[in-house]
Amino acid sequence: MGNQIIQSLVGTGKGILGEFTPPPDKSITHRAIILASLSPKKSIIKNPLLSGDCLSTLNAFRKLGVPIEQRGNELFVSEGKRSLFSPLRELKAPVSPIDCENSGTTMRLLAGVLAAQNFESELVGDSSLSRRPMRRVLEPLRQMGAAISAREDNFAPLKIKGNPHLKPISWKSPVASAQVKSAILLAALFPRGKTTVIEPEKSRDHTERMLKSSGAGIQIKGNRVVLEGPGSLKGLHVKIPGDCSSAAFFLAAAALVSGSRLAIRDVNLNPTRTGFLSLLKRMKAKINLSSIKEALGEPLGNIKMTPSSLNAVQISKKDIPSLIDEIPILAVLATQAKGKTVISGAEELRVKESDRIHSVVTELKKMGACIQEKKDGMVIEGPTPLKGTKVKSYGDHRMAMSLAIAGLIAEGATEIEDFDCVKISFPNFLPQLKRLCLRN
Ligand code: S3P
Repeated sequence: MGNQIIQSLVGTGKGILGEFTPPPDKSITHRAIILASLSPKKSIIKNPLLSGDCLSTLNAFRKLGVPIEQRGNELFVSEGKRSLFSPLRELKAPVSPIDCENSGTTMRLLAGVLAAQNFESELVGDSSLSRRPMRRVLEPLRQMGAAISAREDNFAPLKIKGNPHLKPISWKSPVASAQVKSAILLAALFPRGKTTVIEPEKSRDHTERMLKSSGAGIQIKGNRVVLEGPGSLKGLHVKIPGDCSSAAFFLAAAALVSGSRLAIRDVNLNPTRTGFLSLLKRMKAKINLSSIKEALGEPLGNIKMTPSSLNAVQISKKDIPSLIDEIPILAVLATQAKGKTVISGAEELRVKESDRIHSVVTELKKMGACIQEKKDGMVIEGPTPLKGTKVKSYGDHRMAMSLAIAGLIAEGATEIEDFDCVKISFPNFLPQLKRLCLRN
């Protein structure tokens, strides 16, 4: 599929210059579509991300009978009928399997919703999603009373026999995963009683924040969340903030390409997502955060970035959840940082859209990086000059974008195979990158 050539900026005197508003946040858009679909009231979602992954969630709820209408840059959900079993909207049994395509968030969160319905459903995905572990959501949902079968008891397709009379549980998750936590919390909206989820480290908390501002009874204490069901949800009136994970690629470019000066506006600064920004500071990058305000239960602000010489860092298990999606681009930064960067406790990367430990190490090595694969992470020694060559994205959007930024600082052109996958989270990535590079 579509290859893309990235021209080097080395020796051109061009930097990353100007202002940039990142695309709307992917995780928050998924949750807004889900909660708006579950509330029987009218909802408006302004500035949603209409990328591949979020469209998978939107189409899934349309298939479940929710009237979601797109008007320009807004989504409208009209009032619906209340279910006989809960204070939430009545969903319709789907006539065929629901295709979650490449989206792990769609499959896992939807499994939580479908576990509580009075009908059967099936969730399918593309080849990447069909290789990702699902037992982590099946186990708690089964304990709540849903009957779910999966290929090899771990992989999609998932066949879900919903149960409108689920029971609340207390679940100690072995992985810090917002998708697991959210699947349980969504199922917990249905039965009467308190459901508790405890994580080893706190993962992103957008579900909790949005449930709280929608009126659900939810209490959060450190890594423990308690939801008291049945939850009734108000209609949503939200504006989705910019995605800090998408902003990370341009922040990295501005940190690496000499002569850059980048201002990023209206980006979500939820502390469960900003590990990458803290890390940039630890690497001695010139980063400045300002105008931090609160918008609908989520912090929002602006970021300014200029280049500087970077230092290596040590990243361990406790750091991972707040920067899990930024590790591929962090590896690119580490190739240019002075010293040995060690990333450990990151085995979750092996079960993302690609095995991101293997794909990052293999492709950056082709470009001349001094990088070594470890079971639970990687070791990178820098600074090392990179060279342009032909590399693979593995159909993984964050790999494709990380390699594009590496291409800017590599000597010669970089050809990235299967670049179209950027549509999953950031369809406008290339035009935005070109715009910021051309303004010199
Ligand atoms: C996400 C949670 C994270 C993240 C993914 C999006 C979410 O996955 O990697 O890109 O929206 O809940 P895990 O929760 O499985 O770690």
